[in-house]
Amino acid sequence: MLAGKRITLIIGGGIAAYKSLDLIRQLRRAGALVTPVLTRAAAEFVTPLSVAALAEAQVFQDLFDLKDETEMGHIQLSRASDLLVVAPATANMMARIAGGLADDLASTLLLATDKPVLIAPAMNVRMWQHPATQRNLAQLRTDGVHVVGPNVGDMACGEQGPGRMAEPAEIVAAIAVHFGPHPLAGRRVLVTSGPTHEPIDPVRYIANRSSGAQGTAIAAALRDLGADVVFVTGPAAVPAPDGVEVIRVETAREMLDAALAALPVQAAICAAAVADWRVASEFMQKMKKTAQGLPVMEFVENPDILATLSAHAERPRLVVGFAAETETVIAHATAKRERKGCDWIVANDVSPATGIMGGAENAVHLITEAGVEDWPRLPKPEVARRLAERIAGALA
Ligand code: C5P
Repeated sequence: MLAGKRITLIIGGGIAAYKSLDLIRQLRRAGALVTPVLTRAAAEFVTPLSVAALAEAQVFQDLFDLKDETEMGHIQLSRASDLLVVAPATANMMARIAGGLADDLASTLLLATDKPVLIAPAMNVRMWQHPATQRNLAQLRTDGVHVVGPNVGDMACGEQGPGRMAEPAEIVAAIAVHFGPHPLAGRRVLVTSGPTHEPIDPVRYIANRSSGAQGTAIAAALRDLGADVVFVTGPAAVPAPDGVEVIRVETAREMLDAALAALPVQAAICAAAVADWRVASEFMQKMKKTAQGLPVMEFVENPDILATLSAHAERPRLVVGFAAETETVIAHATAKRERKGCDWIVANDVSPATGIMGGAENAVHLITEAGVEDWPRLPKPEVARRLAERIAGALA
């Protein structure tokens, strides 16, 4: 998978450094050549000997290990790689990279390099959430640094929250994505995601239980295959992915406007759970309980974004809709494909017993002109990856 790729792995000084040993093993197994660099603090957590043994390579620790510029200067070391990976990237390391410091070998390499850099942050949750770290993260992203993780979970310090380093397999996957292939490079795709909120009055709205997880995963998977993704999202429970153009909307009408403004695109994936109806006339003041009894609301239909895109003069080459059903899933979804005029429908059963709506997994059926495919129940990111690959195939 990474055969012959030269990776300089900078191991920072955090408890997660122990995972970098497994990361080296996995990188070697994938065929990568690993040049390890240990910071002084990292050597307190893992020994240079074990790092060298697993990497089957010399470990660099000090600027002065690089005997002279004729043998292996720091400029040369920073450039004799296809990718620099920092794992774990501590809060201090992130601050030093963001600030452009060069006060040890690791920071000097990162400042001197002209190669892409991927960091895997790992730190206590409070340190991660501190405005200084978030500022440094934003700066690093602006500078083109790629970021994997951190994950949410139990931490060595006994706290819970974001800050756990991404697992070695996730870091390897992020590295593999970096190197491609990128079959959707140069393709522009639209993804709608999340619920919509339809106002009733200034404080109340109609919504649904969509978390936006599946649409978010699809946008990330398309991005990983190289697509330029326009991500139009309602108020979702999960954060929008990095590396996509995010357009935030609230109502179905705003979502339609944003989707039309994104045209032309090669593919449109309508994963949003758009409210079918809105109240005919929104109350301008907060509605009050009155002696006259209960309010009566009249509803009107929202625009159908999927159907509009499918019939548009600038119709994307591929239009994919979703069908969240609670009964006779396949029959309803097959009819929906015809009715909406889209190419594919991704159908799923969202009955509460399935735990799919708002959950981590999805069991979908892909309905195309050719028929119905039943996919196994998979984590939503895996469903997204498969779908993205199919989309890449269709646009090839
Ligand atoms: O008709 P139904 O809501 O079941 O259709 C679901 C599909 O249609 C989804 O792909 C959804 O994103 C899309 N849709 C839409 N605009 C609407 C309603 C649904 O794009 N107003």
